[in-house]
Amino acid sequence: MTTATAPGKIILCGEHAVVYGRPAIALPLPGLRAYAHIDSAPPGSGLLLKASDLGREWMVDETTTEPLGKLAYATLRSLGISRADMVITITSTIPIAGGMGSGAAVATALVRAISAYTGCHLHPGDVSALVYESERGYHGTPSGIDNTVIAYEQPVWFVRQAPNTDETSGAISPTAYITPLSIARPLRFVIGDSGVRSKTRMPVGEVQRRWKANPSYYEQLFDQVRSLAEEIRDALATGHTAALGTLLDTNQSLLEQMGVSSPELERLIAAARSAGAMGAKLSGAGWGGIMIALTDEINSTAVAEALRYAGATDVIETIVNAYP
Ligand code: MEV
Repeated sequence: MTTATAPGKIILCGEHAVVYGRPAIALPLPGLRAYAHIDSAPPGSGLLLKASDLGREWMVDETTTEPLGKLAYATLRSLGISRADMVITITSTIPIAGGMGSGAAVATALVRAISAYTGCHLHPGDVSALVYESERGYHGTPSGIDNTVIAYEQPVWFVRQAPNTDETSGAISPTAYITPLSIARPLRFVIGDSGVRSKTRMPVGEVQRRWKANPSYYEQLFDQVRSLAEEIRDALATGHTAALGTLLDTNQSLLEQMGVSSPELERLIAAARSAGAMGAKLSGAGWGGIMIALTDEINSTAVAEALRYAGATDVIETIVNAYP
């Protein structure tokens, strides 16, 4: 038997602009995790997937179109294995569909568990590519930032390059510049869930429509995000947490101008700021999902209480470690 795990994530800066080739910064959340546990099964019994949190289990074979089963077989194939008899149990402490990478983390844990169980080593880049393919089923053509930060499990500076068309498979996979980031001091975040669920592809599609209708307006917003990302990278490296808070507020203002914020998110952001957060913004695709507030030891409890009072359906206090 084998167990593997993968973290959740937040996008600190640059969501949406990253789809248009600007840099984004994403951080792993080591305190929120998905797990995949594999037990062997008798020969000929096939592959059983269990999502014990959801009380579901289902058999999958090579022809399945169900995303996790498909990913399990894609992983086995990439390791040169054509069939397997095993029971894979998935669990997760990451809120589902909230913008914290629950799907990508479950997928990453699954791929890692299969490679460990079969005694093969997969580089994080290979894990990330397999997960990217499976995420495409849910999100259209994502930038790839979510699977990257989760598979590498470290803060990343991510710049998407023009999508490549793979001549042999016809698959589109983004190539990206991925640079590990250093973080001088641990960062304390309070994450508030708006309780509103919106599929990533909806706001992404809307931004694309608006960008096509008014390219110069959107291009200058995306350029402002690029400058901001550079300043945020410096603030992370030098440990200027107060400056970082102000920069996150500016990113929220740009996201509002892009049209991906919402009244529910803005109510939570205002509540966090009033309770003493150093900065706050939505994180992820927007229209719903989560907001993040940068806090310190002194005010994080007050910020968490303010978020609950303002209607957050879930509030999570978490720390992102320093990275040399
Ligand atoms: C979603 O987590 C982030 C977006 O930038 C979409 C993407 O990068 O694919 C909104």
